[in-house]
Amino acid sequence: MTEQQYGYFDDQHKEYVITSPFTPTPWINYLGNDGFYGLISNTAGGYCFYRDPKFRRLLRYRYNNVPADQGGRYFYLKSADTVWSAAGRPVQTELDHYECRHGLGYSRFIAKKAQIRSELTCFVPLGQTAEVYRLELTNLDAVSRQVSLFSLLEWCLWNAEDDGANFQRNLSTGEVEVDGNVIYHKTEYRERRNHYAFYGVNHPIRGFDTDRDSFLGPYRGFDRPLAVERGQAGNSLAHGWSPVASHHIDLQLQAGQSQTLVFVLGYVELPNDQKWAAPGVINKAPAKDLLTRYDSAQKCQAELDRLQQYWLSQLNKFQIETPDKRFDRSLNIWNQYQNMVTFNLSRSASFYESGIGRGMGFRDSNQDTIGFAHMVPDKVRERILDLSATQKKDGSAYHQYQPLTKKGNANIGGNFNDDPMWMVLSTVNYIKESGDFSILEARVGFDDEPGDFTHFEHLKRAFEHVVNHLGPHGLPLIGRADWNDCLNLNCFSEDPNESYQTTQRGASDVAESLMIAGQFVLYGNEFVALCRHTGRTELAAWAQQQVDNMVEAVNQHGWDGQWFLRAFDARGRKIGSAENDEGKIFIESQGFCVMAGIGLGDGRARQALDAVSERLACEHGIMLQQPAFSGYDKYLGEISSYPPGYKENAGIFCHNNPWIIIGESMLGRGDQAYEYFARISPAFLQEKQRLHKTEPYVYSQMIAGRDAATPGQAKNSWLTGTAAWCFYTASQYLAGIRPDYEGLRIDPCIPARWPGFKAQRTFRQALYEIEVRNPQGLSKGRVELEVDGEAIEGNLIPYARFGGRHRIVATLRTAD
Ligand code: GLC
Ligand code: GLC
Repeated sequence: MTEQQYGYFDDQHKEYVITSPFTPTPWINYLGNDGFYGLISNTAGGYCFYRDPKFRRLLRYRYNNVPADQGGRYFYLKSADTVWSAAGRPVQTELDHYECRHGLGYSRFIAKKAQIRSELTCFVPLGQTAEVYRLELTNLDAVSRQVSLFSLLEWCLWNAEDDGANFQRNLSTGEVEVDGNVIYHKTEYRERRNHYAFYGVNHPIRGFDTDRDSFLGPYRGFDRPLAVERGQAGNSLAHGWSPVASHHIDLQLQAGQSQTLVFVLGYVELPNDQKWAAPGVINKAPAKDLLTRYDSAQKCQAELDRLQQYWLSQLNKFQIETPDKRFDRSLNIWNQYQNMVTFNLSRSASFYESGIGRGMGFRDSNQDTIGFAHMVPDKVRERILDLSATQKKDGSAYHQYQPLTKKGNANIGGNFNDDPMWMVLSTVNYIKESGDFSILEARVGFDDEPGDFTHFEHLKRAFEHVVNHLGPHGLPLIGRADWNDCLNLNCFSEDPNESYQTTQRGASDVAESLMIAGQFVLYGNEFVALCRHTGRTELAAWAQQQVDNMVEAVNQHGWDGQWFLRAFDARGRKIGSAENDEGKIFIESQGFCVMAGIGLGDGRARQALDAVSERLACEHGIMLQQPAFSGYDKYLGEISSYPPGYKENAGIFCHNNPWIIIGESMLGRGDQAYEYFARISPAFLQEKQRLHKTEPYVYSQMIAGRDAATPGQAKNSWLTGTAAWCFYTASQYLAGIRPDYEGLRIDPCIPARWPGFKAQRTFRQALYEIEVRNPQGLSKGRVELEVDGEAIEGNLIPYARFGGRHRIVATLRTAD
């Protein structure tokens, strides 16, 4: 290990092991799968919530605080005069050993200090609305030792936004009850809420605290609680101010003895007529029920095993073994895991997303589905239909919807003109994966016209929306923005209080997007294929004509000579052209036009990607555009608001790098494709941990580009479309294992040095064990297929013939 490293992969346990509590940023994990979620840092900081991180937040967490990462599940240990934290913070006492193991749905913290070893395992059991903390303490000494233990959680008063703003009210509302070893948080339960939270432990307690200031002492932080210092809880009862939950337990551990305690932080909802056991006394029956499920180390272990089984069964649907371990661990474990987190959380709650802002993005959520359709197809179907219901009858879409209400978010509105076509991608990818064409016939109303429409009708209107919104060059109008939220060509804002995304001054019938043009050709062709597949031949012919027209418009107006233009602005001027001083070339239109196949036949696709390699690629990834914008330009919008090298202003916006990688794979340039993949993929960045800053096991939204003061520094980890796109690209275009309507296609594009690889893929009800052989040292080639030893024409394994378990050998050969 080099000095730069804060951790390493433990592939056998599917864990990332963090070896310092003082990582460059808090490195987090997610707990929970079914509506109850927790964010947990490598020192157990973070919070949990039920369904909605704004309206049902259980723990208070301080974004933007110093020191960073304030609030979490804290366990203070005290032996003789030494005080330390079981997870390495908030008490900063140096430990003799510290280790945080982030695993699949759990995090484990191991500490040693003063001859006491602690092992804390935090998880959300499957299907439960609770976090469970199993704490095992072992006396490593040769003599008996006394240990005092203090737990601590700080309650959020449910509405996280209000909790950090409406102090004139919320300093008076906090209420608790203490009953034996269980502390109940019942703030606002007296009025309209039908839910409470509790924190219990399966061991008698010596004392408790529920008033924060009594526990911490005046003007003290979490790192120096008075109660712990004096070794005695205050038995305080909170009346308003800031309610907390702390248990005080004293243990006498014999030499070598271990003892395990189980703490449960639970959430309970009750029907109105069952809220109370007596006037003012809450009904505790459901809490007690939850507590008894985990009241022994054995019961916890059984739940942990179940959780582990769940994750293994998910990940096993795709497993790969190549000559590159980094590629394998990325695809087999962390990328798939991150994809499920983006499914659960969208862009709502991370250490960069405060959980009180964004809802489910229409484009984000449609794209995310391509990362987990192979794991949870049923949930993808449901997600797509939820998205479909927020579409308007003219084919446009609400840019976001709220997960609790499933209603479009009126504050943001629509007119992001790339939005509608993403639903073609999600739907087509889902059908190819599942074989379920019935989704097309599912009944979904439009947001502004409830009624009996098919989901297919929604796709058709998405397609028509582009056709009905073409600009002066016959290219798609951009609206407020396309995929690049910050290219705001109709905004012209000079007022710092305005939102770039929702302000519109331009007439909006001039500015056009080449990214949407490429997107329309790519997914428009998919729409045509879908029409043909379902016997809609007339519609297919009409749609094909529209796509052909678009290709023509791109050929006539969208080619700049060496690459594809990015846009025309509201004054009809070119953006992303050699004519410009800054922003001469952009990544999005190169990616989308090449993925759409434009210029593949005549060398322009190759030319465009060569220009990307020459002008946009740097050692940390492919930058969004070059040269960076040096100053604000109201005709460009937010993109020019960022300092050069950050975010959309020439940062490496990882989400779009896979588009170029797919483009390279279409050109058959496997070495280049793989090299690009390696530059942004966390598993390949272990030597850069300090520079990179964010978690080295998941993708981040952005890595600072060459123009930045801090090139290579990442921000905004976890909740990014990068995860889904990287998995989709690596599995379907590099490994080339690609679902299609009739079966699974095998069409790899790999580094020429690879002698081959093996993969296991569950596809619908079938299980394929695939071996790819590369005897001629190719990147891409004609694929010779054998199924169970029988030679098959072409590169598709027809599902109708091979539905069971089969062994596939695919050999790459030069085209003869
Ligand atoms: C953010 C948004 C996404 C957008 C991207 C580029 O990641 O969530 O919708 O496409 O930024 O601006
Ligand atoms: C900001 C971010 C961008 C994001 C957008 C919408 O513009 O820079 O990445 O997509 O906000 O939330």
